[in-house]
Amino acid sequence: MTSLTIEPLTPGIGAEIPNLDLSEQLTDSVMKELEQALLDWKVLFFRDQTIDVEDQKRVARWFGELDIHPTSAPGAEHAELIRIAEDEKLRAHNDIWHSDVTFKASPPMGSILRALEMPPVGGDTMFADMYAAYEGLDDEIKVKIDNATALHVWPPGWVDIVMKWQNMDRKEFDHRFPNPEHPVVRTHPQTGRRSLFVNAAFTRQIIGMEKSESDELLTFLYIQATVPEYQCRFRWRKNSVAFWDNRCTQHYALADFYPQKRTVERITICGDKPV
Ligand SMILES: [Fe+2]
Repeated sequence: MTSLTIEPLTPGIGAEIPNLDLSEQLTDSVMKELEQALLDWKVLFFRDQTIDVEDQKRVARWFGELDIHPTSAPGAEHAELIRIAEDEKLRAHNDIWHSDVTFKASPPMGSILRALEMPPVGGDTMFADMYAAYEGLDDEIKVKIDNATALHVWPPGWVDIVMKWQNMDRKEFDHRFPNPEHPVVRTHPQTGRRSLFVNAAFTRQIIGMEKSESDELLTFLYIQATVPEYQCRFRWRKNSVAFWDNRCTQHYALADFYPQKRTVERITICGDKPV
């Protein structure tokens, strides 16, 4: 029996689930429905969730181990929690299409993000369906990328943070956190579907290709995430929650609300090595 109501935002990506209270102890069968909805819709939205960090973690844990972001401060009370707080002192800067943390060998499976404080208007998040982005490519391009791999690199500012927190030099950092090569087209471990897995934030070069050719092809592939037909756009309110599958989506957080405040908290679930 299906208990979840699913209200799609678009035909392909994004659905709101209006009848689930994430603060409740949810049964395994409800969680399985939730998982299926995530696989079907790639990003799920919930409104008016008066949940705390523990509720957020409990829902996430059903899907896997919790990820600790490499830049988390050591000894933090909730090391798995990332708070993104923007205001007149700190401008928003996630206005770039990306999947999260693809500079790790095993990037996250997904994230659950909760809105604590939102501007009256602005600060929406856009999500892109990277299955559709792949399927929309011409066969000629697909042949070029189907078996290709690409180098993903750490943002330099985050390297500095990790070296500082973990008290290591660059040599040790490079040894412990080498920049990974991921398939340009990955196969989702649960749906078996193929999706485009390069992003403008962290991908640098297609392996074995001249830099100029690689740059041209990557620029072309990044544009796929910006096609409106592959996207949905979520207008947040306080206590809205989004849960995205990081393996087959990209997102873009609009930085259009300066100098207003926007505060969100993210719990992230560990993922597999892309294949
Ligand atoms: Fe992100």
